[in-house]
Parts: sequence; structure tokens; C-alpha cells
Amino acid sequence: MKPRVYIETFGCQMNVADTERAATGLRASGYDLCTSVDEADVVLLNTCSVREKAEQKVYTRIGELRAERPRAQDLVVGVMGCVAQLEGEAVFAQASSVNLVIGTRATDRISELIERARDGEKRVLDLGERGNNDSWDVSPVERHSPHVAFIPIIEGCNKFCSFCIVPYSRGRERSRPASEVVAEARRLQGLGYKEIHLIGQNVNSYRPRVQDGLEGFPGATPFCRLLRAVAATGLPRIKFTTSFPRDFHRDIVTAIEENTNLCDWVHLPVQSGSDRILKLMRRGHKRSDYLERIQRIKNSSRRLALTSDIIVGFPGETDEDFQQTVELVRECEYDSLYIFKYSKRSGTPAAEFHDNVPEAEKTARFLELEKVQRAAQKKIYSSYIGRKLSVLAEKQSSRSADDLSGHSTCHKVVNFRGDSALEGEIVEVMVTAAKTNSLYGTLVGR
Ligand code: 5AD
Ligand code: SF4
Repeated sequence: MKPRVYIETFGCQMNVADTERAATGLRASGYDLCTSVDEADVVLLNTCSVREKAEQKVYTRIGELRAERPRAQDLVVGVMGCVAQLEGEAVFAQASSVNLVIGTRATDRISELIERARDGEKRVLDLGERGNNDSWDVSPVERHSPHVAFIPIIEGCNKFCSFCIVPYSRGRERSRPASEVVAEARRLQGLGYKEIHLIGQNVNSYRPRVQDGLEGFPGATPFCRLLRAVAATGLPRIKFTTSFPRDFHRDIVTAIEENTNLCDWVHLPVQSGSDRILKLMRRGHKRSDYLERIQRIKNSSRRLALTSDIIVGFPGETDEDFQQTVELVRECEYDSLYIFKYSKRSGTPAAEFHDNVPEAEKTARFLELEKVQRAAQKKIYSSYIGRKLSVLAEKQSSRSADDLSGHSTCHKVVNFRGDSALEGEIVEVMVTAAKTNSLYGTLVGR
């Protein structure tokens, strides 16, 4: 019988995509993938390090794994992803039951690494770079959804925001040739996928070394050209995330306006509304630069949804700085907002700053901002009542067996009464009610 591997994924979409890629490679090398720890010969944890708490969770989980399989002496336990890359050897010291540490660029070598561990090598470690011929292939069976697929277009980050660990865990930016991205989009379209997400830490910093696949597609930046090239496949719905403010060119909005299959949603994290804090964060943009980019989005002929990330309680953030963030959030009228309390991440420049905002104050700011956002969001969501939205029916709703759940082109969760036979179809839904973070509606024309 083939050895079975179970992969548990934490963190962002890049990790989800890496898991899909790793699973594809493992199956091609003769492994089976399984869906629970009980059946596994090898357990891999694909880990996240964005907050130190997330990292702690990994060690707790390793303890649980060994407890779940106390008699499985030859069970191989591996740590992959961001914690593996950052901690390296230290993982073995922290958790002696780990046999394998697989860095973020070793995805293509996992099967060989597992073999070494199964052959009895006690501590197998690979923090190396990607090979030149690394494969980005993902087989459809490994995809997290049969209807929505992630296509990584850029890996890593060169921005070095002072609070963020990603440039250290994921390394430098590397863009994938457009010809490969377009070919993958076409393949997915052939398999019946209705929606793809072009993903990366900063998709709009996309800068491939070769022009292949961009020929004939104009645009102010390589990313604008890529958007037009992918739109030309005719795939019904194309979304992209995350965008970086400094590299957000107006032509992105123009490309969206030209192509109905480029969806009406932009995720553009601002992090703070105070220039003083933005500078300490080393974001490379000012409040006014951000607002300028937002203007183009808000003035678009299409109604584009806008979402963002904010950190409250960054070292040195005064009440005045925070109020500027509150003001900015009011002004931007975000469709949705992810608010984070600053948490010190060792290894980042900000970890050396004096973390002087007390936890209680961070919580108070978090709650105040959440309240402001909730009020704005209520208005926005209510404005959809009586409007028709195009929704991809993705799955049965977790709340009710009679309802389906999916996303609109503006990336809102929409629930509606419908039969499971509709899963995978794009349907029209008339919005009848607005909840805090979702819309409810009824099918139109069926
Ligand atoms: N503390 C709090 N939030 C953070 N983020 C990244 N690093 C930190 C940190 N040290 C948030 C940012 C980023 C999102 C993915 O996580 O807002 O955009
Ligand atoms: Fe982190 Fe900044 Fe890079 Fe985003 S742009 S991944 S916040 S360093």
C-alpha cells in the first residue's frame, strides 16, 4: 500500500495554494493523500507565522498529534510553511517529535525529504531556494474547491513593512511567467472552474523576468497587462488579492472597466490613517497617496467594492494617530475591514520599537474602529437590498440545508434558497436582506 500523507493547513491563501501544490507533487511521486491524522503515515503541518500566537499554535498541535497516535512510533511528523522557514533547526529543539522541517521554497522536494525521514534519518531539514524547474502544477483533485481556484502569480515580498515577518518567511518577490498563468487559467476554464483568484502578497508588484504571454496586451504595468491577458481567456470571474497601495496603478481600474469578467472588488490594505505611523511602519505611502488611489476606485464607472487591513496600537500610536485612522475608515467607506491589534513579531524591525500601547488600549481602539466600520458596513450592505447580484453558488450554506452560499462579483457572501444541483453555477440573486457580514436573497428567473 502507498504511504499516506495528511496535510493540515494554517494561515493565508498562499499556504492553501502551497498545500495544493505539495499534494499534487506527492501524488505524482506515489503517495496517497488522506483526510485525517488516524489514517496517516506522514503528517505535515503547513504553518503560519504572521503572529507569534499562530506560531505557538503549531507546537500545541504537534503535541496533540502525538497524543492522538501514541502507538504510531514510525509516524513521520513534518513542519512546513512559514514557521519552518523562520525557525529552521529550532523546530527540532522545540518539538523533539518532529522529523522533518520543510521551508517555504522546498515544496518540490517534499517527497525526497519524506523518504529520507522514513528511511530513519532523525532530523531532515530543507530551507533551500526553489529549483529553476520547479513545478507550479496543481491537479484538480487537490484543489480546495471545485468551483473557485487560486493561481499564485507572485511569491514573496520585497516591501519590508516594519511589523511584518513575510519578507523573512517567504523571501524575495518572484513572479511567474504570464504564459504559465494564462495557460493555467485556460486549463481551469476547461475543467469547468467559474472563478479564479490571482494571488500573492502583492499581486500588483508582479514583474516577470520574461514577457511571454503578455505580448499584445497593453497596460501601464506588467500586472495591468496580465489582468488583460487573463481576462481575454473569457473565464467568467477573475479576482485578485492582495494589492499594495504604492504599486496600485490607475490602469488597474481601467482594465477592470474594460473587462466585465474582472470582478468588482479591490483589497487594498492601508494599515493606518496617520502619516507618522505609516512612516514608522515603512509602508512607503502617505495617507494622501492612498486616498488618491481610492478616488480612482470610487470614481470608477463600475461600483467597485473596497476592503482593507488595519493595525491598531502600533508602537508609538497616540490617540490622535488613531483618530486619523478612524477618520480615514469613515472616509473610505470600506465594504469590509480586517482589523488587527498590533502584536510584536520577533525578527521584524518593529520588534525593536517600544511596544508602548497597553493591551487594554489596543482592545479599546479595536472595538471603537469595529463600531465605526460596522455602522458604515450596515449602510453599504443595506444599499444592496432590492438589487440583483451575480452569485457563484459554491456550497450548501452552513446555517441551513435548504440554502446555498456563494460570493457575488463584489466578493460578498450571499446566501439564498436553492437546490444543491445549482452548485457550481453562476446565478442571479435578488437581495432581500442584509446581515452584518452577508446578504440574503432569492433566485431570479428560475
Ligand atoms: N501585528 C498585527 N497585525 C499584523 N499584520 C501583519 N503583521 C502584523 C503584526 N505584527 C496584519 C497586517 C496585514 C495582515 C495580513 O496582517 O494588517 O495586512
Ligand atoms: Fe508584509 Fe508589507 Fe509585504 Fe504586505 S507588503 S507582506 S504587510 S511586508
